[in-house]
Amino acid sequence: MNAAIRAVVRATLRLGGQPYAIHEGWAGAVAGGVAIRALTWDDVGGILHMGGTVLGAARCPEFRTREGLRAAARNLVQHGIDRLIVIGGDGSLRGTEEFRDEWPSLLEELHEEGAITAGQRQAHRALTVAGLVGSIDNDMAGTDMTIGADTALHRILEAIDALRSTAASHQRTFVVEVMGRHCGYLALMAAVAGAADAVLIPEDPPAPDWPDALVSRLRASREAGLRDLIVVVAEGATDSTGRPISSHEVGEVVTEGLGGEGARVTILGHVQRGGRPSAYDRWMPTLLGYAAVQQVLHGTDIPAQVVGVRNNRLVPLPLATLVRDTTAVKTSVEQGDFAAAGAARGRSFSG
Ligand code: F6P
Repeated sequence: MNAAIRAVVRATLRLGGQPYAIHEGWAGAVAGGVAIRALTWDDVGGILHMGGTVLGAARCPEFRTREGLRAAARNLVQHGIDRLIVIGGDGSLRGTEEFRDEWPSLLEELHEEGAITAGQRQAHRALTVAGLVGSIDNDMAGTDMTIGADTALHRILEAIDALRSTAASHQRTFVVEVMGRHCGYLALMAAVAGAADAVLIPEDPPAPDWPDALVSRLRASREAGLRDLIVVVAEGATDSTGRPISSHEVGEVVTEGLGGEGARVTILGHVQRGGRPSAYDRWMPTLLGYAAVQQVLHGTDIPAQVVGVRNNRLVPLPLATLVRDTTAVKTSVEQGDFAAAGAARGRSFSG
């Protein structure tokens, strides 16, 4: 996310605007004070190679309350902020959409209670919003890639490559659990790029007799002379009845099925969310950040937009539609309705 932050700040300055940092996400907007500060060109120097976000991120229950929304609106108006670029997953972007919808009535309330002047209300009557999708899960409908997913994939591949040394030396099977919540993107891509022998993802749940199928596949690989076997398991994997499949369960199945050969389970955890961003996760968010600034500077009074990626090109996409379709995909996967999930995802790319 730092690449996007750097680009937003520097593009804003170059185009004659004043960028502000809101630290800790919506929590900073609600808190105000030192959480909101003007930024200079140098404030974002030396961050392009750093993972995470130098602005901080936090969950903010207050932002779900009217009082919290009012506090955030008051703090923005007091800093003269009327254009927002939000980097986050679908939760943050959903909050952004609601905030923008409520903005006119929030300003009314603030004016009525004397927190802002009539002049301030008039000057800030429209809140222009652009969203950038930051999530290692790559689970946002409508955009090919989300910021951070490529880097996470690199981390996973480094781990799989490293595990192969022990796997090959000792003829062991490694079960590697990867993140992604209900989305199998990281697991599937890691399995393909890491030449895994099997993969379990939420979008393609196996029948309840999956242990037999998995064991016979791995046994065939052993018989063909393969020494290092890798099974990738998405953290959200289930069988076709919706029963969760844990990486430990897969490890037990493999250990038992391959006759005494002890499988090892490696849960990569937050290692996947850290470290140096890949080249893609530096240049693409840089372009996205620049495009987001163009959008909020020139596209005032239009519905909130996300700058997404399609076929390697940047595209403005309606935030409300993306959030709606992402929710539809998630819910359908959770319910095991994969046709509906595919349809919602397809719809999100058709506009
Ligand atoms: O959504 C990103 C993600 O890394 C998921 O892949 C993972 O399930 C979750 O966040 C972990 O969240 P936390 O850091 O709160 O444990």
